Amino acid sequence: MLFPTPFALMGLVSLLASPAQAAQLTKVNYPNNATSKAEMYIYVPDKVVANPPLVVVIHSCQSTVQSYFQNNKIPWKQGSDRKGYITVWPSSPHSGTCWDVSSRSSLSHLGGGDSQAIANMILYAIDKYKVDAAKVYVTGGSSGAMMSNVMAATYPELISAVSLYSGVPAGCFVSASGGVDQWNNSCSGGQSRASPEQWGNVVRGMYPGYDGPRPRMQIWHGSADSTLAPQNYQETIKQWTNVFGVPQTPTSTKANTPQANYRTDDYGDHVEGIYAQGVGHSVPANLTASEIWFGL
Ligand SMILES: *[C@@H]1O[C@H](CO)[C@@H](O)[C@H](O)[C@H]1NC(C)=O
Ligand SMILES: *[C@@H]1O[C@H](CO)[C@@H](O)[C@H](O)[C@H]1NC(C)=O
Ligand SMILES: *[C@@H]1O[C@H](CO)[C@@H](O)[C@H](O)[C@H]1NC(C)=O
Repeated sequence: MLFPTPFALMGLVSLLASPAQAAQLTKVNYPNNATSKAEMYIYVPDKVVANPPLVVVIHSCQSTVQSYFQNNKIPWKQGSDRKGYITVWPSSPHSGTCWDVSSRSSLSHLGGGDSQAIANMILYAIDKYKVDAAKVYVTGGSSGAMMSNVMAATYPELISAVSLYSGVPAGCFVSASGGVDQWNNSCSGGQSRASPEQWGNVVRGMYPGYDGPRPRMQIWHGSADSTLAPQNYQETIKQWTNVFGVPQTPTSTKANTPQANYRTDDYGDHVEGIYAQGVGHSVPANLTASEIWFGL
């Protein structure tokens, strides 16, 4: 009769703990009644907490979910591993992988566009993965930041806070001809300027009649951005300060915060701007600062 040797047992233990068992980014089918067929990927860390918070991480143009997930400037996988929250990674259905932030369908609540597909992903994560519905957060860079603004405007009832890097105001990329996934030179170049009231009306118009809570907005932009002009920082601040009914003048301005050459402008509890002096497109995600904004 053979008895397992200590070495064989050690082998068994290391097999059980092998990386093959580790959590992975996984594509899931979700109930999606939108016209947009954006795909859903999810990362559930090995040590997920009970009723986990959810961070939706929205990729940029010319990016994929896989490349974004592995990009060490977008360290949300690491945050998820450390703190036990879930991340959902929507995948754009459009060639070139930008998000549709130009058509009525995406720029309105239940309009059927990409924003509705992402809202459906959030609802599925709450239902299937027992996500705490009061702890749903959205982040993204560039086109993903534009989409973060659009999500905040179109599905405010689903989202607690947003931290977006180098985007444009919600509705700034609107296509006059109604086209899906259109580039808009006026907006990208910083020529689409409006009053706070006008920008606020754009947000209110995306979900008419909604008067419930809205996500707290943290807006990052680089002063040397030559893809989405830095003026978009001012326009986005105008938009959300108007939505929250707070003045255009910061309640506090802190130099070299949260890091050297970055300036933090606070507008009360609901809007924070972080202007990165000398930084181009797109500002790298600061996981710590975004997690603090989310309360994670
Ligand atoms: C799609 O699903 C959402 C969320 O469940 C629901 O509110 C909406 O009425 C549905 N719309 C259509 C057209 O089925
Ligand atoms: C670009 O967006 C602006 C609003 O930011 C809009 O007025 C303009 O019509 C759009 N341009 C095109 C070509 O659709
Ligand atoms: C990110 O922000 C935190 C504070 O929220 C700061 O301590 C840290 O230095 C920042 N990260 C980098 C890379 O500068």
